[in-house]
Parts: sequence; structure tokens; C-alpha cells
Amino acid sequence: MTQDELKDAVAAAAIDEIRPLLGSQIIIGVGTGSTANRFIDRLAALRGDFRGAVASSEATAKRLKQHGIDVFELNEAGTLPVYVDGADEINDQLEMIKGGGAALTREKVVAAGSQRFICIADASKTTSILGGFPLPVEVIPMARSFVARELVKLGADPVYREGTVTDNGNQILDCYEFLIDDPKVMEARLNNIPGVVTNGLFALRGADLLLLGTENGVERKE
Ligand code: 5RP
Repeated sequence: MTQDELKDAVAAAAIDEIRPLLGSQIIIGVGTGSTANRFIDRLAALRGDFRGAVASSEATAKRLKQHGIDVFELNEAGTLPVYVDGADEINDQLEMIKGGGAALTREKVVAAGSQRFICIADASKTTSILGGFPLPVEVIPMARSFVARELVKLGADPVYREGTVTDNGNQILDCYEFLIDDPKVMEARLNNIPGVVTNGLFALRGADLLLLGTENGVERKE
């Protein structure tokens, strides 16, 4: 199977997973990226069965609206029953690196505001140690060089993602050569650097369920 077919398979599995949760008052959280986009495209067929969605990015909000799905602000939606999103890397503890699409801050907020996080990913995203994928760190623009120096002190090789402005008006530093032994500790440590808005480690609040696309079908891990 191609990677696109694996993404399709996990998107379909996520639809099956959330279908029993839906109802006229239900608002769900929806992530960002090519895997999440496949989920959104399938969600369109169910749009009469739930109230709407909270989007983790402007791109996702646009796609949801194009399908006729109502988009709500998290502020008005309250706690969400479920959040569905992809990942750039995921380990056996269902800790992730996210933010390859620069949507990490809103993704982390919507995930934190949801009772259940369902991660959908193809098998290429699994790893035993996070950090093979460069860890994104969102910074306010005036702090970029300072934060980069602090990241070097922690052993990373940060690279400014030129030309990228996040939905929050901020910038991204991608941390190369940064294998992460203890993701929860590192997530908290990075959060403490002044000027960091969010880092792409999703360990303190990891996924509750991984739907993993493999050659042998979709595997469930929780
Ligand atoms: C965006 C993300 C995405 O979930 C992550 O980049 C995975 O994307 P894709 O499904 O396209 O591989 O974190 O900020």
C-alpha cells in the first residue's frame, strides 16, 4: 500500500471510532495536515449527525467550512469529547512530535481541551526515540535568536523555518540533532524558556488511542 492509502485507511478507521460519540449537540476537535484532511473529507458525509467542529488551524477551518461543517471557537464549545489529529512521530507510550505543519499551538490547546485524543498515522511515523523528526518550537518573533541560543545549550541544532508565520503570528525554530530521552521532562523544560509559545512535544498530554496504518491493516494501540 502507498502512504496515501495508509492515510486513507486510518482516516476511515477514525470515522468508525467517533461515529458512536456523535449527536446533535456534539462538537469535535479536528487536527491539521494531510492525514487529518482525509479524515475531514470523510467527516463531510456525517455532517448532519453532529453539531460541528473546533479547528486546530485556519487551513482546517477552511476545509471544514468547504464541506458545510460548522466551525466553532473553542471558547464557545466547552470541553470536547474527542480530538482527531495526525503526528510527525509517535512512540510506544503514544507521546508525539507534532507541528510539521506549524499548527502545534492550536493543536495542543484543542487536544488539551478534549477528553480523548485519537492519533491517526501511517506506520512511517512510529519510532522508539522521538527526535528523528526535527522538533518544532513556536516562538514570538522578538525572542527567536534568544530562544535559539537556549536550545543550543540543551543540545539542539535549531533552524529558523524561513517564510513560515503561524496562525498566531509567530515563527518556528526546528530543532535538528535532538534525540529526546524523556519527552515529558523536555516538554516542560522547553515550555519554561521565555519567548517559547509552544513546543511540538505532545507527551504531558499524549494520545489516548493510536490508529496506525500498516501493510496488515489498521492497528489499534492504547
Ligand atoms: C501539523 C501537524 C500534523 O499533524 C503533522 O505534521 C502530520 O501531518 P501529516 O498528516 O501531513 O503527515 O502536527 O502541525
